[in-house]
Amino acid sequence: MARLLLGVSGGIAAYKSLEFARLATLAGHGVRVLMTENAGRFVGAASFEGIVGAPVLTSEFERDPMRGAFPGESGQAGHDPIGHLELAANCDAFLVAPASANTIAKLAGGFADSMLATSFLACTSPRLLAPAMNDRMYADAATQANLATLRERGVQVIEPDEGLLASRGERGRGRLPDPERLLAAVEAALSGPEAIPAPPALLASGERGPWDGLRVTVTAGGTREPIDAVRFIGNRSSGRMGMALAAAAAKRGAEVTVIAANVALPAPPGVKRIDVETTAELAYETVERFETQHVLLMAAAPADFRTEPITGKIKRQDSLNLNLQPTEDILAAIAASRGEGQIVVGFAAEHGGDAVGRAREKLTRKGADLIVLNDVSDPTIGFESAENAVTLVAATDEVEVPKAGKDAVAEAILDRVERLRTAAQANN
Ligand code: CTP
Repeated sequence: MARLLLGVSGGIAAYKSLEFARLATLAGHGVRVLMTENAGRFVGAASFEGIVGAPVLTSEFERDPMRGAFPGESGQAGHDPIGHLELAANCDAFLVAPASANTIAKLAGGFADSMLATSFLACTSPRLLAPAMNDRMYADAATQANLATLRERGVQVIEPDEGLLASRGERGRGRLPDPERLLAAVEAALSGPEAIPAPPALLASGERGPWDGLRVTVTAGGTREPIDAVRFIGNRSSGRMGMALAAAAAKRGAEVTVIAANVALPAPPGVKRIDVETTAELAYETVERFETQHVLLMAAAPADFRTEPITGKIKRQDSLNLNLQPTEDILAAIAASRGEGQIVVGFAAEHGGDAVGRAREKLTRKGADLIVLNDVSDPTIGFESAENAVTLVAATDEVEVPKAGKDAVAEAILDRVERLRTAAQANN
């Protein structure tokens, strides 16, 4: 397990760093925390100290009672080390989260006026920054230039999320990503920038589920493309199939994230949920996390077209022309960029005729490992209904799953994915 240095600067998102520290500690990492003076205005050092079990340092002139050691290690004997050099030298990765505009500017300028800044300068291990601030501050040329400078120097910048900001009613890019995503980014940086975590061997028996250690992302629901302040282009996908898949994968022991597009259903217990509205948001969240995933189940129905939304509400009129532009094909883009051993599953709702032939064409066109085909000409299955009947179309075969509850269909899909994984492992 790794020694992680967490730098916390002043921002409302600092509360999320507490959760990051908790998750990283739970995952078995030794975490030491450095706070700026301003971070202390948002969260207390005592909270971090309780979570990580080690003192928090703020000033470079402060003595480190642990002499540069990480939780789980014993401090070094002999003379007192120089605090800001010792922790920076001993860590396996250094994450600054949240990184405020001020701290980013200081780090880009090479300032060394705090424990965080001096340690950052002195650190030769992978360094990551997670900016979090108001969207206009983030978009400002000064912040962007500072980030570009840091990127050029090999610092990995974890892009902030888009969504509701702390300032009331404001939306935009500037949210600190969820702690789980921060941890995934840090862990990926530990094993090299391009590395996909090696899938663990499947366990034959024992307490742990057969998918223990696998990271699975499921997309669910249907995206909506706004037309004006109150109307949107959407579809009837309820998200039931996606939620059933998420529940089934979690039951097998996988670490599951569901990216839910306008889904009214609750996420199954133990499953992380990210809510999105549009195809662009779904694309962003899915592409962003895919690098660290073993399986993607693309059950969502993204709207295929978007239009430039009109401000306010369109008034009644004799006719209305909307200029529709195609949205990005998320599945095809992800399948094209996937690494060894990553399994990508698409879903196709086809209406009668040679449905299997069209699913097979989709399998090839999108480059997926499997297409789960629904024939939506039967009104008793698919979309809002609790039952489904599918055909699993892979390069080598087709498997028919007769009409059953969506939970049973989900199990059949996961069984097929498991066979694909076994085949992929055998080929390596
Ligand atoms: N998909 C996607 N991005 C899109 C549209 C679809 O990733 N913009 C994914 C869906 O989540 C699904 C698969 O592609 O897993 C097939 O979706 P479908 O709507 O059947 O594919 P289309 O490319 O839209 O094909 P069609 O011309 O049949 O509508």
